This record gives sequence, structure tokens and C-alpha cells, in this order.
Amino acid sequence: MGMGDPLVIRTAAEMSAWSSAAHARGERIAFVPTMGALHEGHVVLLRDGRRRADRLALSIFVNPTQFGPREDLACYPRDLPGDLAKAAGAGTDVAFVPEVGDIYPAGFQTTVEVGELARGLDGPFRPGHFAGVATVVAKLFNIVRPDLAIFGEKDFQQLAIVRRLVADLAMGIEIIGVPTVREGDGLAMSSRNAYLTTAERVRAVSLSRALFAARDRAAAGEGDAAALLETARAALDVDRLDYLELCDVDTLVPVTRVDRPTVLAVAAFIGRTRLIDNVRIGS
Ligand code: PAF
Repeated sequence: MGMGDPLVIRTAAEMSAWSSAAHARGERIAFVPTMGALHEGHVVLLRDGRRRADRLALSIFVNPTQFGPREDLACYPRDLPGDLAKAAGAGTDVAFVPEVGDIYPAGFQTTVEVGELARGLDGPFRPGHFAGVATVVAKLFNIVRPDLAIFGEKDFQQLAIVRRLVADLAMGIEIIGVPTVREGDGLAMSSRNAYLTTAERVRAVSLSRALFAARDRAAAGEGDAAALLETARAALDVDRLDYLELCDVDTLVPVTRVDRPTVLAVAAFIGRTRLIDNVRIGS
């Protein structure tokens, strides 16, 4: 298991058949859904899945419904051979690589609508994004039928929404959140880092620096959200700030004091590249 290249499956029917056969053998399936352009952060998710289950499934699908009209769908990085090599190295058994028409066939018209958790942070800046994520994740879960699924904490709001989705729709899948994997200087790993020029890459580190500065100040005793946000803002070197917010970890509602577990989250443009990052504070 997990030796050599992963089996590449291109249709939903074949993927479900693979899953049924594994379950019939009494095997547990771990699932890592991705949009490809795999980096070390994804590899950590895959390794985690490898450890937790008998079978490890990965999906690679650049989901068009989670991109806005002015976003980067057309130029989103794609590298299937590179992805499969990394997946093999992490012990992946199967890579599900569907076509858009297999996930959204003619006549497709059902969408998962997300409530309060999609209202703040990325929600207003990316209308329809989380409905697109929730819909494709629900569909992938129904095709792959995993026992557990693994997501990165870098997309903190996405993770919260997926947890809610699984609970609200009684999907019976265990959701595992894995801490953000960072470059040596602190930059959160992201497929979109590939867009950064050398000069932009230098400035991109200011996101994590800003978050860490606020976290350090909180650890030193500062509990006032406004003061922590000011510390973070002062360290940012970005071209446009979409948001910098300190929120309750469960509800994602902004807080005024760190008197419970919170997440400090940022989204900003460096040049034309939009990056997000977050750290937990007070947990
Ligand atoms: O995090 C991602 O890569 C995507 O949002 C996901 C979960 C694979 C859904 O398309």
C-alpha cells in the first residue's frame, strides 16, 4: 500500500468503485482534497492521512465554482506530473483527477449554501467562494466516501466551514485540521506563492511577521484586540489589505479582547497576488 505511483482515476464512477472495494475489504480511507500544484504543505497533509488510515486518496481538481470572475482560475498553477511524484513520495494510493464535466455535468444545479461562517473574513471579498468550496467538497466526499478528510489550517475559514458542513449534513466523516506549514522565514506555504516575483516574495513575509508580532505581544500579556491589531498592522508591508481581524476560533466573529481561543487572520495583496494567513492566539 502506498508504494510506487498512485493509481490515477479520472471518473467519479471509477473513484466510487475503488472506494467501495476498499470499504468491502474493511479498509479505512483518508482523503486529502486539493487543487493540485502540490507543495510541502500538501505533502504534510498526505503524510498525516497515510498514518491515520489503510488507504490514502488525493483529489486534484481546480474547482471553477470557487473562483470569482476576476480571480486566477485561468492561470492557476497546474503540474500533474509533479503532483503525482509528490503524492507517490507521500504514500498516496489513488489520485482522483476528474474533468470539470464529471463534477459539474450538464444540468447541474444544486449548491450548498453556507451561513454565518461565510459572512466575515474572506466572505465579502470572495462572493460565492465558500458555496463553491462547500459544494465541491460535499460532492467529492460523496464520490470518494472517505472515513476521514484532512485540511490545512492555513485556510482556517474553509476548515471551519467544512467541519460545519459535515456536522450539519450528518456526513459522518472525521475532519482533521493540520497546522500551517511555513517556509524557513515564516511565509505560509501556498500554491499562489508561485506567482510572487523575487521582490514580492521578500515583502510577502510581512504577513507572517505581522501575525507573529501580535501573537508575541498577546503572549506577553496584551489582551486588547485593537492593540494587537495595531501591532500586526504596523508590521505589514502589502499593496492592499483586504482584512486583518481577530476572531473567535469557532464562530469566526470578531472579538474585542483575547479572553478565549481566537484566530488572527489576514488577507492582503502583494502586487497582484492575494495571500492569506492566520495564527491562533490565546488558546
Ligand atoms: O483548499 C483547497 O485546495 C480547495 O479549496 C478544496 C478544499 C480542494 C476545494 O476545491
